[in-house]
Amino acid sequence: MHYKYLALASLVILYSLMFIGGYLQASGQGLACPQWPLCPSGILPTAEYLTEWIHRFVAATAGVVIIATGIGAWLTKGSHTKIRITGTLAGILVATQIGLGAIVINTKLHAVIVAIHNGVGILLFAMTLLTVLFAFRLSHGPKIETSA
Ligand code: HEM
Repeated sequence: MHYKYLALASLVILYSLMFIGGYLQASGQGLACPQWPLCPSGILPTAEYLTEWIHRFVAATAGVVIIATGIGAWLTKGSHTKIRITGTLAGILVATQIGLGAIVINTKLHAVIVAIHNGVGILLFAMTLLTVLFAFRLSHGPKIETSA
């Protein structure tokens, strides 16, 4: 059963993304690239906008993998309501977070928007982590009750 590895990959990519976001902010490069969705250099990375470019590229990758995990939660045999809820919420939150990223740029790092971007990131991490835990539990199959 490969679903649990897809879920795990989404968590690892998301964690890396949050790490890069923290670096982006602490290093003061948040507005290095003042446009959205592409930096002035276009689709390919350049040294000038590298951290911003990596944050956006990993965000796009995380978006695809987290949404695929959310869809997988519905399609995987034996899945239950809990994993469907956490997987779907993670999909909704990742789309929201990418939209918020655009607002972070367009409002030139408005403090409230950056705080919301951070807060939604934490909620997204929580939902993704729960989805991974449920996915690993699923792969062990249904528990067989034995009577003493
Ligand atoms: C799944 C998607 C995303 C996640 C999980 C995420 C997560 C984060 C995190 C955790 C931070 C650090 C915030 C802090 O320390 O308070 C951050 C910063 C930032 N993010 Fe994202 N981000 C995502 C997508 C995006 C996108 C698509 C953009 C813009 C195109 C973006 C733009 C920024 C910027 C500009 C900062 C730095 C803010 C500052 O310097 O104050 N993010 N992100």
